[in-house]
Amino acid sequence: MKVAIIGSGYVGLTTGICLSFVGHEVTCIDIDPGRVETLKSGTAPFHEPYLSEMMRLVKVKYTTDYAQAIPEAEVIFIAVGTPSRPDGSPNLEYLESAASSIGENLGPNYTVVVNKSTVPIGSGNWVESIVRDAFRRGNHGHRPENFAVASNPEFLREGSAIHDSLFPDRVVIGADQQQALERLYSLYRPLLDQSFAAPPFLARPDGFGAVPLISADLASAELIKYAANAFLALKISYINEVGQLAQRVGADVQLVARGMGLDARIGTRFLQAGIGWGGSCFGKDTAALISTAAEYQLEMPIVQAARKINSRQRELVVERLLGAMKLLKGKTVGLLGLAFKPNTDDLRDAPALDIARRLIERGARVRAHDPVAVPLAQKLYHDLAVTWCASAEETAEEADALVLVTDWAEYRELDWAVLAARMRNPLVLDGRHFLDAARLKASGFQYLAV
Ligand code: UGA
Repeated sequence: MKVAIIGSGYVGLTTGICLSFVGHEVTCIDIDPGRVETLKSGTAPFHEPYLSEMMRLVKVKYTTDYAQAIPEAEVIFIAVGTPSRPDGSPNLEYLESAASSIGENLGPNYTVVVNKSTVPIGSGNWVESIVRDAFRRGNHGHRPENFAVASNPEFLREGSAIHDSLFPDRVVIGADQQQALERLYSLYRPLLDQSFAAPPFLARPDGFGAVPLISADLASAELIKYAANAFLALKISYINEVGQLAQRVGADVQLVARGMGLDARIGTRFLQAGIGWGGSCFGKDTAALISTAAEYQLEMPIVQAARKINSRQRELVVERLLGAMKLLKGKTVGLLGLAFKPNTDDLRDAPALDIARRLIERGARVRAHDPVAVPLAQKLYHDLAVTWCASAEETAEEADALVLVTDWAEYRELDWAVLAARMRNPLVLDGRHFLDAARLKASGFQYLAV
């Protein structure tokens, strides 16, 4: 099937590459000529495991020109960014401009335009009207427009984007026209049936079978995405709230999470207590859900509380350090990890940057390391008074405390005795319940956890 994908970010690029891998003819369109050149040269524009390897296996075309792919496309995905505005509502200008360009270039054959970006509920109808208006403004003679708009929310996680796209838990498609649903079903058939050979470097998980398909109306598909992300966010905030009580009563939140999670109705995943969530999705999507509900005079107190707890976890890092060190002014704190999670260099809403700001405000000096995100941090946050370090050892130099912010596997393997020797005071605050507390204590550390 001929597929055009607009927007070559995490969602668009991964979708394009995986659809090409299972046999479709894919063109990725991006308005950023720099990014298109990078992609054409075979280079991945961000750090994502297996992305470069997959790019080498497929034949995807990259262009800035809508006219090269839209007229022929049978399915067009819109996967552009929808960042938050200050009031929490999403900024839809990229979506609007993509829809308009699609309308101007639409061909005569039936086309399904798919919202893959996380868009507010009701956007399907809005996009349809923009495509139609742009089509009618264009020079198409008396030809009637021939398209439908569908929703196909994305559930991939950064850091495991290729894995999640090839081996998804479910595929959700939403449309108000049967023909559109059928086309998307055909498009996803190889993924649903798992009839493709897995890439040599990424085996299909043991026992992984056919993927469930949810066919829904537009509004339900759009709401599924928000409801899922908000639920994951509140699951994390819930364990963090329990964690605060656990600390006061002397209980171990890790054991509590395991004991709760083995109840199949609850599940063990997303019960990792610590600094809380960051990234481009949970913060934005929970804010957008609250903002949509407000348009219908509805409050969402559970989602609001989850956000409040998440922000409190970041402050808790500062409070715990203050409790242990008594004074932050003039002290040096080293942060291990900048990216919002391991295996990515994404710094959007990264807790590390927020924590760095809070520490600097209280007079502390901050040093920071990340296995991949330092160059990006230096570029984006050059005005932040942080000493960017090339290694964990350098971060520990003369430090009064280290905070494990991102659970990169390599931090667990560090020679902690070497780090302790370099520090003024060997104190570690484990923000992710990730380090081996016994090993750290044996290396001379005072070990604290969030
Ligand atoms: C999230 C969802 O998991 C995806 O399903 C969704 O497609 C994506 O948002 C999106 O909407 O695009 P992502 O933000 O990439 O994916 O990363 P997650 O693995 O969900 O982690 C989010 C944050 O929660 C990270 O900062 C992580 O450290 C934190 N987290 C996660 C916890 O603090 N505890 C946990 O138990 C799990």
